[in-house]
Amino acid sequence: MAYANVCKQSLLYEGELVPCMVDGHEIIVMWPDGGQPRAYDAACPHEKVSLARGDFNGRILYCIAHGWVFDGHNGKCLQPTGWTLKEYPLRIADGMVQVNLAGD
Ligand code: FES
Repeated sequence: MAYANVCKQSLLYEGELVPCMVDGHEIIVMWPDGGQPRAYDAACPHEKVSLARGDFNGRILYCIAHGWVFDGHNGKCLQPTGWTLKEYPLRIADGMVQVNLAGD
């Protein structure tokens, strides 16, 4: 599967999270402070509640459902440990943010 446009690059800001839909699939693009934008599946690995409405402070993403805590730089769950958000390859091309859901 090829890369698909998810939003304009101009919609991304360092320290913020942008929810997007790709082929009917909900993802989040997180740009942590001091890092690079990365794309993740929006479904929380706990009970699949959408992280699109999660609370992101530029470093840490909190799931509003039960309070699981994720590292904004790599998607690893910090509390509890042992879980990681599913990440998709992201690139910027022609002013557009593009994500490859197939992961190749
Ligand atoms: S669904 Fe996210 S912490 Fe429970």
